[in-house]
Amino acid sequence: MLKLPGLIDPHVHVREPGATHKEDWDTVTQAALAGGVTTLLAMPNTKPPIFDEATLTLALDAAKTKARCDYAQFVGAGPDNADIVASLAPQAAGLKMYLDSTFGELRLDDMTLWTPHFQAFPKSAPMVMHSESRTMAAAILFSAVYDHPVHIAHVSLKEEILLIKAAKEKGIKVTCEVCPHHLFLSKDDIPAISHGHPGRGEVRPRLATQADVDSLWTNLEVVDCFATDHAPHTLEEKDSDNPPPGFPGLETMLPLLLKAVDDGRLTLDDVVQRLHTNPKRIFNLPEQPDTWVEVDESAMYEIKASEQFTRCGWTPFEGWKGRGKVRKVVLRGKTAFEDGKILVEKGYGRNVRG
Ligand code: DOR
Ligand code: ZN
Repeated sequence: MLKLPGLIDPHVHVREPGATHKEDWDTVTQAALAGGVTTLLAMPNTKPPIFDEATLTLALDAAKTKARCDYAQFVGAGPDNADIVASLAPQAAGLKMYLDSTFGELRLDDMTLWTPHFQAFPKSAPMVMHSESRTMAAAILFSAVYDHPVHIAHVSLKEEILLIKAAKEKGIKVTCEVCPHHLFLSKDDIPAISHGHPGRGEVRPRLATQADVDSLWTNLEVVDCFATDHAPHTLEEKDSDNPPPGFPGLETMLPLLLKAVDDGRLTLDDVVQRLHTNPKRIFNLPEQPDTWVEVDESAMYEIKASEQFTRCGWTPFEGWKGRGKVRKVVLRGKTAFEDGKILVEKGYGRNVRG
């Protein structure tokens, strides 16, 4: 039996408020625990988006009564809320800035809208960028100019990881995360994921070329965190004429990574660094006492959506081989998950910024 620390997923789309038919604070935290995740950081592109005190309260009230694992909620950068979100920094996971097109309404196209956020948001509080390609280069320049650390979400391209590497070497305060789907899938896999429904392959950032995927593996030392970008949408929505982008990921991350450990592509220590040590430091997360995850290392099994806790009902990794079954999760002294069953009540989860 392998014993891991409680895993931290810094990038999760909870969908509550506004789209609880896809997921809510109850189902998402069940999925987290089943995946060995004891702390998740929730993204603000809900309906309404989380961008001021009233909407932050809306999300945190739902989380307080429903979450079964620990959490914090990001606030979103809007065109005119820099002072407001800065004042909310102590209660938030951090600030999320959407600088490229994605799901939801939060988007800051014009760079003049970025400046007030870089100036007002506390330097010690995390700022996370959805920024791809050249927009990412611009975000890193803002980080250097305003001397504010930034964390780049879901790096997927060779040009991105190479620039982050160079920026780190220059001493720019940039960290980054990579999602399992960008490590294990390329655009060549879209037909197999799709089963005739092209919407199932839609995700932002898009699945990239095999050369991009290879560059993430070659530059793994530049990758600070793994993050799921768990983005549940129902199959009906994915198969519609206007499919929303996003993959669920909380329950498939660990088995995919442990399979890669078994295949000699990275070490167990690499995984623990990126799913516990580094995110804990980057996002200023408190210690969770008496918290650990027990994994049956030798268990090899087939990933099946029908066995998952997420409400969205599918996974792009259907039928893939995973390694390592999460047998037991102990969270703050209480067995929260054991042998496929959730054992803590709704509301057991704590706001780590509470
Ligand atoms: O694929 C994605 N889905 N990328 C994002 O940035 C947002 C997410 C979502 O909220 O569905
Ligand atoms: Zn996301």
